[in-house]
Amino acid sequence: MAKTEFSTLPVHLGIIMDGNGRWAKKRGMPRTFGHKAGAEAMRKILRECRELGIRYVTCYAFSTENWSRPPEEVAVLMRLFDEYLDEAHERFDKSRLIFIGDKTPFSDKLREKMLRLEAETADIEGFTIFLAMNYGGRDEIVRAVRRLAQKAAQGEISPDEIDESAVSRELYTYPAPDCDYIIRTSGEQRISNFLMWQGAYSELYFTDTLWPDFDTKALHAALEEYQRRSRRFGGI
Ligand code: IPE
Ligand code: IPE
Ligand code: MG
Repeated sequence: MAKTEFSTLPVHLGIIMDGNGRWAKKRGMPRTFGHKAGAEAMRKILRECRELGIRYVTCYAFSTENWSRPPEEVAVLMRLFDEYLDEAHERFDKSRLIFIGDKTPFSDKLREKMLRLEAETADIEGFTIFLAMNYGGRDEIVRAVRRLAQKAAQGEISPDEIDESAVSRELYTYPAPDCDYIIRTSGEQRISNFLMWQGAYSELYFTDTLWPDFDTKALHAALEEYQRRSRRFGGI
């Protein structure tokens, strides 16, 4: 495919990959069929992001709230993650992988795979994927604040040193910069607890396209829209 030129690209792109269930339903298939198709879409989109030169991509795969889904769906999602991570080497070629979110509720096997992939890709520079699994933006902030409170209680820092940059340093995505642009598919226009801190000044892009249908052409359309945005950060 001919390389599209973009004058400005987000340094850190966030993607809320939504609509897998509805995509499957439209085809008379079980929701899990949509999750499989969604995993394939993610692989293609991530490869394109890397080739375009985006530095950081955060993909929302499973939220802290998604545990409230029927146990059968959660079980299938866990199995899919497990299979997906087995193929991660081919899928996430030349990418640093970091799982953001609380890993403790996952099975030992899944957690070990996550830790191994993080270790094996730790030296890769240029393109970082943050895969949000059991991630919640509020949970991330609570953890950061708790960590700072512990440091203060132990006398490592003074409470006066707790400022915005101190909180940022305790986030899962540190030292990546704040998120510039958030894409959400499937027509829902909300953030659903994604990057609550890092997204404070993100530009938002909503599309009706369901996640499994979100292809490189759809990504290019979203990035073209980003170039038209004028970011002011409270200035004029
Ligand atoms: C997004 O698709 C994937 C996850 C949240 C795991 P959904 O499963 O939310 O699909 P819809 O929104 O029900 O169509
Ligand atoms: C957000 O999608 C979470 C992920 C894409 C992983 P949801 O489908 O869970 O969000 P809501 O429930 O529509 O807000
Ligand atoms: Mg959804």
